[in-house]
Amino acid sequence: MERFKHIISARQFDDPALLDHLFSEADEMQRLDAARNLPDLLHGRILATLFYEPSTRTRFSFEAAMQKLGGGVLTAENMRDSSSATKGETIADTIRIVSGYADAIAIRHYEQGTAAEAARISPVPVINAGDGIGEHPTQALTDVYTIQKELGRINGLRVALVGDLLNGRTIHSLLPLLTLYKDVIVDLISPWQLRLPLKHREYLMDKGVRFHEGDKIEGAIELADVAYITRVQRERFALPEEYEAVKDAYIINAQVADTLQPHAIIMHALPRVNEIAPEVDSNARAAYFKQAKNGLYMRMALLKHLLG
Ligand code: CP
Repeated sequence: MERFKHIISARQFDDPALLDHLFSEADEMQRLDAARNLPDLLHGRILATLFYEPSTRTRFSFEAAMQKLGGGVLTAENMRDSSSATKGETIADTIRIVSGYADAIAIRHYEQGTAAEAARISPVPVINAGDGIGEHPTQALTDVYTIQKELGRINGLRVALVGDLLNGRTIHSLLPLLTLYKDVIVDLISPWQLRLPLKHREYLMDKGVRFHEGDKIEGAIELADVAYITRVQRERFALPEEYEAVKDAYIINAQVADTLQPHAIIMHALPRVNEIAPEVDSNARAAYFKQAKNGLYMRMALLKHLLG
């Protein structure tokens, strides 16, 4: 089984055996955490979390994961405004410096490709914690782990991806992982302005994955085993009126949620705005808060993989 130095793209994870291993490791982390019996695997090691874009789940779960395994963190939740980036320091120089202080770096940046650039320079592992509209591989690993836990399989599932498929980096990372499983069918549901980029559709075609595209939720969501809802990403729009035109394209309320199959799950990487009404939280199909918690255990498994 391949061990990675860096985690930059979900496309690195092309071995289902590695995913199974990470799922088992994440399960074990959850079990040990519940028993308050976690090992100090990463004692004396430091993770730097360099976030140039806002985050709640990714930064805190990485930091909690590191600390629960006995390690420490150097953290900056607003590198864009509070680091020497404001004085003109380049990413390359920042990585050269921070890699002298930390054993691994988790970086979130507003420009696609920045994590890959950091990995080319860094002597310590770099983790892509989201790069613009590029990828968010640790979220996607959390997502497939959640599907496996909730539904007991990924093979043969029908997955509806709903919302901003143009800018949704979680979707760009989830799709390559779904291609590893047999007979998965994908429904891509978005306003046409927010259609999945061609390169990702071509990837699905290259991998022989059956997919359908449309702009209507009705007719697709009722067939789904997994309804994965995404936020329309206001911060990626050049003009406010373009965002206003599509921001509430799809709203999952209690009535819509009840059109899903009884066993289906509703996922969302969060944060949500209006696309899932709070009344859905008590629906048995709602899996998004469990998904966020699973991110902690998957990131513990990943830190063990990189540093353990
Ligand atoms: N899912 C996710 O990436 O959430 P944050 O932006 O809060 O980290």
